[in-house]
Amino acid sequence: MNNFTYSYPVKVYFGEGVAKNSLVAELSKYGKNVLFAYGGGSIKQHGIYDEITTILKETGKKIIEFSGIMSNPTYAKVQEGARLAKENDVDFILAVGGGSVIDCCKIVSAQANCDTDIWELEYTEHKQPNKFIPMGAVVTAFGTGAEMNSGAVITNEDKMLKSALWGASYHFAVLDVNYTMTMPVRQVISGSFDTLSHCMETYFGTPRENNLSDEINEAVMRNVIRNMRATLKNPKDKFVRSELIWASAMGENGILKLGKVTDFQAHMIEHQLGAYTNCNHGFGLAVIHPVLYKHIYKNATERFAHFATTVLGIERNEKTDDELALAGIEALASFIKEVGLPTKFSEMGITDVDYKAIANSTVTTAGCCKKLTADEILEILEECR
Ligand code: NZQ
Ligand code: ZN
Repeated sequence: MNNFTYSYPVKVYFGEGVAKNSLVAELSKYGKNVLFAYGGGSIKQHGIYDEITTILKETGKKIIEFSGIMSNPTYAKVQEGARLAKENDVDFILAVGGGSVIDCCKIVSAQANCDTDIWELEYTEHKQPNKFIPMGAVVTAFGTGAEMNSGAVITNEDKMLKSALWGASYHFAVLDVNYTMTMPVRQVISGSFDTLSHCMETYFGTPRENNLSDEINEAVMRNVIRNMRATLKNPKDKFVRSELIWASAMGENGILKLGKVTDFQAHMIEHQLGAYTNCNHGFGLAVIHPVLYKHIYKNATERFAHFATTVLGIERNEKTDDELALAGIEALASFIKEVGLPTKFSEMGITDVDYKAIANSTVTTAGCCKKLTADEILEILEECR
């Protein structure tokens, strides 16, 4: 294996009904003024808001609400949160939601402690923030694994970029199955495909020889595929749901990435698509993956062939590596269709968009087996239409 250093800062409370006790235990460690951050209101419809406010009051906190964090959070929303945190001397941020709320708060926590504009700091001065408001995450929509890392994906509407900013890691994350049971099935499938995408993007990075990280990854990918199918059979099955929640966390807690340079080219294309269309992240990835892989598999044929047999269960028989690799990509495309994910951008309502601008602004990644040109990314996008 390649060399690595591993340390992990996020304390995870996982399981059914763990929210109350874990929050009571954790909140006692932090100051009085709590920024309670959430999204567009699903938590109010489903009783989570009432439970959390009760816990915050019982633990003697002053609640400062930061609501309306949209899917694909904007940089303007980050700045709004940072202003609120500063004005109210916030001691602790409690992010309750999916990847969007969780990401937005990572950067709020940094911007509230930093006089320089964070975008400028990270992209112009090439520095990273180093002072943060401590934070806890309560996951109500899983798939991104955002609670497990310190990267945040933020849409800068002025610059037409959806890019990563680096903020704080959460001090703790609560993964209570019960808080996710009201997720629409379409979002469960979208989020779970995002998990699968994180696994694939890690797996197809380098090195591509068999290694422990990738063999654990193969097990996680098989698990996600099996449990996505099981979800569609019985969306109320809490065991299935809990497996998907932990797989989501596994995708981003660093374990699968040990000793690897990750790929994440599908993500870079999807993020820029998101900057121009505000589309659902998992849906965009579902359309892009098979098309991208058809463009690049010849540069890593053996690895794609191995993926086909170990993850998708395709028998080698008389197939060459090339045929096996392609059969794997076809099987991935069929799975995407089978679970009701979109296979074309048009199925996501994306019809009129400047693909050339998206291609030109997409970052190309070091771990991808093929260094794509802007023209090739444009071709991929056109094939996804
Ligand atoms: O906003 P509300 O009303 O809460 O509704 C949300 C939202 O509409 C709803 N929802 C959340 N919990 C629910 C619920 N509905 C019913 N019951 C519940 N328990 O679900 C919808 C989607 O939520 P959102 O947070 O937007 O989705 P997701 O978790 O997929 O996050 C997407 C964002 O994460 C970024 C994506 O780019 C996108 O901006 N990502 C972050 C990553 C990271 N930091 O590591 C990695 C990913 O690759 C990804 O890029
Ligand atoms: Zn993702």
